[in-house]
Amino acid sequence: MRVLLVDDDAGLRALLRMTFDVFDIDVDEASGATEARELIRADPPDVIVLDVVMPGMDGLQFCRELKSSRETRDIAVVLLSGSEGGTRVAADAAGAEAYVPKPFSPLELLAVVERLSGGLYGVPFRATKKIGSEEEQLLLYARDLRHLLQIERAQRSLVQEAYRQTVAAFTSALESKDTDSGKHSQRVQLYALELARTMDTELADDPSAEYGFLLHDVGKIGIPDRVLQKPAPLTEPERALMQTHTVLGEQMLAGVALLQGPGMHIVRSHHERWDGEGYPDGLVRDETPTGARIFAVADTLDAMTSDRVYRAALPWSAAHDEILSQSGLQFDPDVVDAFRACESSLRDVRREFSAAS
Ligand SMILES: [Fe+2]
Repeated sequence: MRVLLVDDDAGLRALLRMTFDVFDIDVDEASGATEARELIRADPPDVIVLDVVMPGMDGLQFCRELKSSRETRDIAVVLLSGSEGGTRVAADAAGAEAYVPKPFSPLELLAVVERLSGGLYGVPFRATKKIGSEEEQLLLYARDLRHLLQIERAQRSLVQEAYRQTVAAFTSALESKDTDSGKHSQRVQLYALELARTMDTELADDPSAEYGFLLHDVGKIGIPDRVLQKPAPLTEPERALMQTHTVLGEQMLAGVALLQGPGMHIVRSHHERWDGEGYPDGLVRDETPTGARIFAVADTLDAMTSDRVYRAALPWSAAHDEILSQSGLQFDPDVVDAFRACESSLRDVRREFSAAS
């Protein structure tokens, strides 16, 4: 839908534009009848919102002109006016489809515009009373602004929920392919978040890292089942193929805005090692991004304490010993320190998952 606002008050036009923008309604603006005439000729709008009091030709006159021309008479006109009483009658006489006295709530005007254009979108909002003072108009604007912000916040949480659902769909696609995965992605995400909270709270609060922890192995979707599900040690070429899941994952997620930054670093670098013996880039020490260094410990912890196709789960103490012994070799010593500091919380995560399965 497109609306043409004709009003000499630039502030009012800006406010109405903001209101309409929230609802994806295109807005053209004119400061008077002459400018409006040209815009209508170039591209007729669906609805014209017209102020009655304007310098030059006033709104009532301009409305009569529009309604007397075959080209423009079918365009719905809403007249806005500062004075009550006789103007409503005058608006009817001029052929306007609706009349909205000032002060008005922009959302009320939006509802009128939607109704006139045949839109189905109803705005569940009505002003309770009208007092013709400037302050009252400001209060109505402020109330509408608050209402719009609430709508915007609700829409934002819907988008976040949509992200969450998309990520969950990705991980369950992966779980259906990779027999070892099971609840691995969720567990490892919680371990990594716990370690991150202990080491680097900013990273722990970053949704990109949170999703990166969960989606770290998404590139395995591109690895053939005969390699992914092989119940025996991989040959060297198979191992090389398997290792491409890091860069494959990064390529798959390259267009996902939310994962840029720490999330993508985790996906690409989660198999790097502190001593530089990892893949795909052989990064050394803190060349590997923090999220990926944290993830490496979380991943080993979960791999060792979970059942695998080729062996049963090892006791927690075995994982503990392995992680400590790999400090400064496979793992960043700072992450290993964090592991020791939050080990009891990590065990709680493990227990909760065992209880749930
Ligand atoms: Fe991986």
